[in-house]
Order: sequence, then structure tokens, then C-alpha cells
Amino acid sequence: MSLPLLVKTLNGQLNERPPVWIMRQAGRYLPEYRELRQKANNFIDFCLNPEMAAEATLQPLRRFDLDAAILFADILLIPMAFGMNLQFIPGKGPVLDPVSFKDNLDKYRNEWSVEKLKNVGETVERVRAALPKDKALIGFAGSPWTVATYMVEGEGSRDKWEARVWAWKDQEGFDQLLRLIEEATVEYLLMQVKSGAQVLKLFDSWTDNLSPVLFEQVVIKPTSRIIRQLRNKGVTCPIIGFPRGCGGLIGKYVSETGCTAIGLDQGQTANFVDNCLPPMFPVQGNLDNSLFMAGGERLEPEIERIISDFSNRPHVFNLGHGITPKTPIAHMQRMIKTVKGSS
Ligand code: CP3
Repeated sequence: MSLPLLVKTLNGQLNERPPVWIMRQAGRYLPEYRELRQKANNFIDFCLNPEMAAEATLQPLRRFDLDAAILFADILLIPMAFGMNLQFIPGKGPVLDPVSFKDNLDKYRNEWSVEKLKNVGETVERVRAALPKDKALIGFAGSPWTVATYMVEGEGSRDKWEARVWAWKDQEGFDQLLRLIEEATVEYLLMQVKSGAQVLKLFDSWTDNLSPVLFEQVVIKPTSRIIRQLRNKGVTCPIIGFPRGCGGLIGKYVSETGCTAIGLDQGQTANFVDNCLPPMFPVQGNLDNSLFMAGGERLEPEIERIISDFSNRPHVFNLGHGITPKTPIAHMQRMIKTVKGSS
């Protein structure tokens, strides 16, 4: 049985065309998603309902000929399982009671149990059972730094100021927080792999604005510990790292974390990537999500440019960040047609 195109590409193979999937492909730009979403009381109940979450995961694959499904869940389910009071407020995003450097983190550690997220494992099982063999199923978690920014700020934040100040001021205390998230993340990802995830992705969405020293401390070290522990526990599947916005630090990230592939944001050029990464190291990305929303006659040439620019190495076609809710569905169809026609 041959492997899904996504897995072959992440294993380092050059193929006739790049596999394609889209960050946030299950989401509000789809009318069927909006309809399903209304049936749940809130977003967390939705994520923890295996029947609904499996349906949301599969919706984009029913409509589009994508090469992979990504588990429908959220990076903030781990803080929720620490007992943090998490809410998703429409129009604002996630809100939680912030962690302070004065807090004893044992209360979160004592609250944590991967059992609280066992429904996510069931979602993975359901999706895997329903998915054709040539489509890969991607499991994921947030990286400790990005999850920590929400735990410390209590919401999404532009410059992650409180988290950055804490990480400089009290390295040991902040490391305790990162380690807490790390331990939970390893158990959670292991559960996803045991349930049928064939690729893992670590979302580190907020690594812009970090100095190289802080990047080493809060991104590279925890990420490499997670990947090492997963490997020690027998996980062999590809692991995509996505340190979004880290710019010139991708070379160090790739050489030190042990990731199998790296997700690029829209700012990174193929020339730059060739200078920083080993030849044939797999990359994913990096269409600008604002062009994806804009559409127009500049969309296809830009897709073709990206495919051509990265054609010297295994490349997974994706955006540089998630699809936004107002993006027309027709742009998704145009994009997939262009990628598939590129062989
Ligand atoms: O389709 C997929 O990509 C799979 C599902 C998925 C969601 N969130 C569903 C979701 C994935 C992989 C995530 C990851 C995630 N969640 C990240 C990292 C990726 C990135 O985009 O940077 C982050 C930072 C979060 C935290 C989060 N969750 C925020 C900031 C928000 C609110 C922002 C918004 O768009 O409203 C969420 C909510 C969320 N997660 C939604 C979805 C579909 C929208 C909520 C809804 O439908 O009511």
C-alpha cells in the first residue's frame, strides 16, 4: 500500500506535484461549518464532541480534493485541561484567567489528565476510519511558547509583552511553565498518534518579535524536548514545526529541534530558505492568506511562482497562515486546480 502523498513528501520525496492542504481548512468560510457550529453550545463543546468534530474535520475534504485532513480541535484545549477557565468570545477570541509568576503551577499539574481530552482521540479514530487511504490525517498541538502566551496574557496579544518580560526576568519560573505545557503536549500528541494521526504539527504561531536568546530559551529548547520525547516513546511519523514569524532563525530551528519539516510564513523566500536549510529538507507554505482572500488575477501567478520557487525540495503547498472567514470558497477551488495542474 503506497503512502499518502503528504507523508511521502514529508519523508523527503520529490513528487510530480506538491500535496495541498490549508491551515484552518475546517472553519467559518464554509457554510456547512457555520451550520454545524450552531448545533454546539460553545466552541469547546464542539471540539470535545467526537461526532461533530469528526464531521468538521471531514467537511473540507467532501467539498475539495485536498491531500490531507487536519484534526478539528484547538491549541487551547491543553490550558482548559489544566483547569483554566477558557472561553471563546465571538468577535474577540479566546479569553482565560491569566497565570501569574506568583502562582504555584502544581494546581495545573494536578488538574491535568490526558483522559480529559480522550474525546479528541475518539475524533481522530472516527476520521481515520472515514478517510480514504490516500488522504493523510494531521494531528496537532500548540508549541509551549504559543500556548504560554495565551496562559500568561489571558487572551491573544499583539506583542506578547507580559510573557516576554516574565521569560527574561524569571527564566527558571517561566521554564517551569513551559515544562508543564510540554509534559501535557507529549501525552496529548502520543494519544493522537495511537488513535491514527499520521503526521503531527506543532503550531508556534507567535514566535515573531523574539530575540535569538529568547527564541532559544522558549522555542527551540521546549520544542526539541517534545520531539525527542515523542521519538523516545516510539513515534516515527513526520513532525512539522511552524515557528511563524521567526525570520532568520529558521536554520537554527531546523538544525536543533529535530523537526521533519518546517512551515514557512509568507515572508520567507526560497532563496533565503536555500541558504538556511539543508538541500531536500521539506518545507510547507507559503501563499499570503490576504491574497487568498483577495483573489483576482494575481492569485494563480503567485501560486505558480511559489510552486516553481520551491520545486528543488519536497514542498507541501499551504498558506503562510490560516484561511480567514471571509475568503470566498471559489478561491479554494482555483488554488487546488492550479496546484494539481502544476505537475
Ligand atoms: O482547520 C484546522 O486548521 C483545524 C482546526 C484548528 C482550529 N484552531 C480551529 C478553530 C487549528 C489547527 C487551530 C489552531 C490554533 N488555535 C492556533 C494555531 C494556528 C494559528 O492560526 O495560528 C491558535 C493560535 C489557536 C487559538 C485560537 N482558536 C484563536 C486565536 C481563536 C479565535 C480566532 C478566530 O478566528 O476566531 C480560536 C478559535 C478557533 N479555532 C476557530 C476555529 C475554527 C473559530 C471559532 C469558531 O468557529 O467559533
